[in-house]
Amino acid sequence: MTDCCRPNPPCVHFCRLDGHSLLGKGKIRNPDNGYEYEVLSVFAQGGMSTTYLVYNYQIKKLCVLKEIDSELASMAKARELFQREARILKSLSHNGVPDFHDFFASENYYSLIMEMIYGDSLQRLIPRNETEAVGWMLELAKILDYLHNLPQPIIHRDIKPSNLILRYHPSQVVLIDFGAVKEVTLKPGTRIATAGFSSPEQKKGLSFIQSDFYALGTTLIYLLTRKSPNKFYSPVTHKFTGLEDAGISPGLVSIINTLTYYSPSDRPSNAIEVIDILTKYLNNKNKQII
Ligand SMILES: Nc1ncnc2c1ncn2[C@@H]1O[C@H](COP(=O)(O)OP(=O)(O)O)[C@@H](O)[C@H]1O
Ligand SMILES: [Mg+2]
Repeated sequence: MTDCCRPNPPCVHFCRLDGHSLLGKGKIRNPDNGYEYEVLSVFAQGGMSTTYLVYNYQIKKLCVLKEIDSELASMAKARELFQREARILKSLSHNGVPDFHDFFASENYYSLIMEMIYGDSLQRLIPRNETEAVGWMLELAKILDYLHNLPQPIIHRDIKPSNLILRYHPSQVVLIDFGAVKEVTLKPGTRIATAGFSSPEQKKGLSFIQSDFYALGTTLIYLLTRKSPNKFYSPVTHKFTGLEDAGISPGLVSIINTLTYYSPSDRPSNAIEVIDILTKYLNNKNKQII
């Protein structure tokens, strides 16, 4: 018995939905188009969604399947937001964003199938030096330039190292997780796990394109210190302190400060400005080496 109506973790021997035996690997099927997916392993199990590695029989490639938690799937708002994540991904075309493959829904589950990015998460990768970390953030700024300038601009709102994957071939930073599902949580405090990366205005329910620049700055802090940006944040001055003591060069600290000003209007006004700032930094570094 290998067919199954929904993905099940490989360590589980009975279907999570109806309890039938899973002697082989679970297979799921999009009821609308008949496409089939073989579930191979669980990538990540968050509070609100589970991500699986699946084999896509249609295109004969490994893909990623993301489904929302059944508890959330019963909430209209969560379903709407997950559908939005799928719709957004489908509308995007950029090598810094995974390709959309399929989306289907039924009463109890919602599944999104997307391109598998072969690479490592920036949460785990340690940059060789500041130049490498800034180079990654320059690639992110170019993705943001694309997203922010779409006819219907997209603010990602959840930029952080675990939502960035460095693709191996061709080498390219890829931004994942376009779900705003996290904003609808049944468990208060679930979002706190990644607190420290998002901007202060988001805590008040506001987001601007500058909120993404703030998160780019806090991601840079993590990449260069391996510590949560919270460790350096002063709630009194609303600034990050002690970054130079943690080994970040004065020039880069000044860039981080510019990106993470408390007031969004004090931050760069668009992604091109961020690209310019980071490019100038890299050019100066190169001159120092020559
Ligand atoms: N397209 C993808 N390619 C490779 N790995 C992915 C992809 N999408 C998600 N993942 C992996 O699954 C994890 C969880 O996915 P994500 O979309 O960030 O969900 P969550 O909303 O739970 O954070 C990611 O941190 C990453 O390790
Ligand atoms: Mg994520």
